[in-house]
Amino acid sequence: MLFVQKESGLFYDKIGSEYRMMRLNMNRNNLEKYIIDRNQVKIMFTNSILTLSVLTSEIIRVFQDRGCNNNSYAIEENKTEETSFEVKKIDDHLELKTSKLIIKIYDDEKVDVYDEQENPLIIDYRGNRIPLDRQVDASHQKLAESEGHDVATSTEKNSHYYELVKKLAADEQFYGLGDKTGFLNKRHYAYENWNTDNPEPHLESFTRLYKSVPFLIGLKNNHPYGIFFDNTYHSYFDLGKESNKYYYYAADDGNIDYYIIGGTSLKKVVENYTYLTGRTPLPQKWTLGYQQSRWGYSISAEKVEEIVDKMRKYHLPCDAIHLDIDYMDGYRVFTWRTDTYDDPKKFINKLHKLGLHIITIIDPGVKKDEAYQIYQEGLQKGYFVKALNGQVYVNKVWPGDAVYPDFGRNAVRKWWAENCKFLVDLGVDGIWDDMNEPASFNGEIPENIIFSDEDKKSTHGKMHNVYGHNMAKATYDGLKKASGKRPFVITRAAYAGTQKYSTVWTGDNQSLWVHLQMMIPQLCNLGMSGFAFAGTDIGGFGADTTPELLTRWIEAAIFSPLLRNHAALGTRSQEPWVFGEPTLSMYRKYLQLRYHFIPYLYDLFVKESKNGLPIMRPLVLNYPNDPKVKNMNDEYMVGTKILVAPVVEEGKDFRAVYLPQGKWIDFWNNVTYSGNNTVLVNAPLDKLPLFIKKDTILPWGEVKDHISSQPDEKMIFRVFGEYGNYLHYQDNGTDFAYKHGEYNLYEINVDGNRASINLKKHGYEPVYQRIELRTIDKKIDFIFKDQKYLQI
Ligand code: GLC
Repeated sequence: MLFVQKESGLFYDKIGSEYRMMRLNMNRNNLEKYIIDRNQVKIMFTNSILTLSVLTSEIIRVFQDRGCNNNSYAIEENKTEETSFEVKKIDDHLELKTSKLIIKIYDDEKVDVYDEQENPLIIDYRGNRIPLDRQVDASHQKLAESEGHDVATSTEKNSHYYELVKKLAADEQFYGLGDKTGFLNKRHYAYENWNTDNPEPHLESFTRLYKSVPFLIGLKNNHPYGIFFDNTYHSYFDLGKESNKYYYYAADDGNIDYYIIGGTSLKKVVENYTYLTGRTPLPQKWTLGYQQSRWGYSISAEKVEEIVDKMRKYHLPCDAIHLDIDYMDGYRVFTWRTDTYDDPKKFINKLHKLGLHIITIIDPGVKKDEAYQIYQEGLQKGYFVKALNGQVYVNKVWPGDAVYPDFGRNAVRKWWAENCKFLVDLGVDGIWDDMNEPASFNGEIPENIIFSDEDKKSTHGKMHNVYGHNMAKATYDGLKKASGKRPFVITRAAYAGTQKYSTVWTGDNQSLWVHLQMMIPQLCNLGMSGFAFAGTDIGGFGADTTPELLTRWIEAAIFSPLLRNHAALGTRSQEPWVFGEPTLSMYRKYLQLRYHFIPYLYDLFVKESKNGLPIMRPLVLNYPNDPKVKNMNDEYMVGTKILVAPVVEEGKDFRAVYLPQGKWIDFWNNVTYSGNNTVLVNAPLDKLPLFIKKDTILPWGEVKDHISSQPDEKMIFRVFGEYGNYLHYQDNGTDFAYKHGEYNLYEINVDGNRASINLKKHGYEPVYQRIELRTIDKKIDFIFKDQKYLQI
């Protein structure tokens, strides 16, 4: 660990390493002694203390108190497991060893991490940062046109409040970081953690978006590791942009508080990280269906019903309609307009009868209006954030002047949760939390505005990045309490750990091919960062889409866990039917494909809720040692068996598809290919290149116009190849009864010509009465009789 000082950088440059060593020796922060107290090793240096806590053999926390409240929003329960470890003083360092990790601590608080085979994972850099050479000095006159080219960001400051600078290997890749822009492998780029609502097109030059997930995954010479920096203040990553020799994390304030995460594979690192910060719980099954949205529909009941009629008229499977801000009375949260809705309860009931669920948007900004009950109540109870002079802080969002609930306080979260009942009582099925970075139209909220950090007074600077997280948590609790169902919350802003409460979408993208391209790495990295339930606005939110872009987008996104078409007010319509044929039929074909795969996606969510591994994932997660996939941006996998290679360029009707090791079956024509190979496939506009790993069994749901709450009477399993084994899960898809054992598990085995089905667990009454196995050339039927499946 190194606190880089500007002067030491200059010495390094001018005088070289010998003199620098002397200087460091003079100021040396010697490792003086250490104390072991249960799972903690407290290490005393001349000028500081560093505490290492062993949580598990693969998770170690490194902590230095710098005067900040030491609670975590990301990690909620005690995650410490009884773990044996050894501490020894060896030569010039102290060594902490678990069965999986070796941590060496040296003078000057330097910390090096190795795996159990002594492969270096995270090694402190012993040199000094050398800022980027932008070839601009004070004598350069700034010309008007050059302004847009000045891209230096605060990431590049010569020194930050603290910096943790680590050595970079020639073969080192980076993943994770939540929803950042750009490519899958984050090496060579710099980013910031400061939740930001910026409507400009999100390009790879954007250093920050709506979420801050300071979780970095590294793959160093094929050895994986993770580091989770649990600091909510504005912070920075430079992942080898400034130098090929080091990467760093820096922060503007806060304690040094990070978790070293080991694991024998990338998957194990993600499992460990989600063990620490939580996993996406099993969602209601209908939430995996198609969802239609647009800012503007909800202006009236009539308009929404028109959309629903068309969905059904054109036989487009659809499970949910989203109501954007116009359903409210003057953008007042927890109200419903009465001029264009006679009776919202009746209206929602009518849509429920058609099999549709209703999701309503809620923003945090509460309209400043003396006659508005939510404002009055929040004001009386002191629930809004305040300026330094003690006055409630006012900024502007959709309703005009607005105030911000102080979500860092438990009492405020409870109040918000109770307010969600208003919507649930009307029949609303899910809540979409928006603008919760928090957004502010009247300039940025100053960092010194008083926000609470639980029961302590804090600042916007500290609580900004967890504002959306706390709002999502309150919404989750509110929905759960009022409905008793698995809550469906969608949030735009998030922090590490928000996945426990909410689904996310990537915010305001645009109808641009580059944004379709970016969807793949963005959702894959969100998945690697614990956000298994994520999606993008299909078709693009801002700007006008084209029939080709919309078609390629629905194809490419068809396995994204959250499947929602959404667009901004004023952009051209982009519902599936607006471009007529053949767009409508192609769109329908892919929605139908999605519904066939919903039982598989649901099975993946069951697994994910136990191991935290994402549904939609980059190839590198499944094949970490394959150099071809380390920065694979235009293919992804669904679980371990499906490989998706969408066309994401305009005018293309073929593409090269890289298939990793093993044998792969083309989903459309059953041709088998050998992996470790690139194949050229035809991909006219109606074709999404799709491959299934040979010897795979997949459930194949029936296409319906919505996911029914009625249990399925029959299930089909498709067999790709001659062998396979599959575990399929079934429950009521809505509430928490499964937690008390109300679910079924079916085990399907196929071995050449022999096939068997075994009801491994029977905790949910309505079992499938019939099961069909479908191979490439035959069908095998089973019926359920005497608690067994018999082949007929
Ligand atoms: C924000 C959201 C967007 C929504 C709009 C109006 O821009 O990101 O999805 O439609 O606000 O509420």
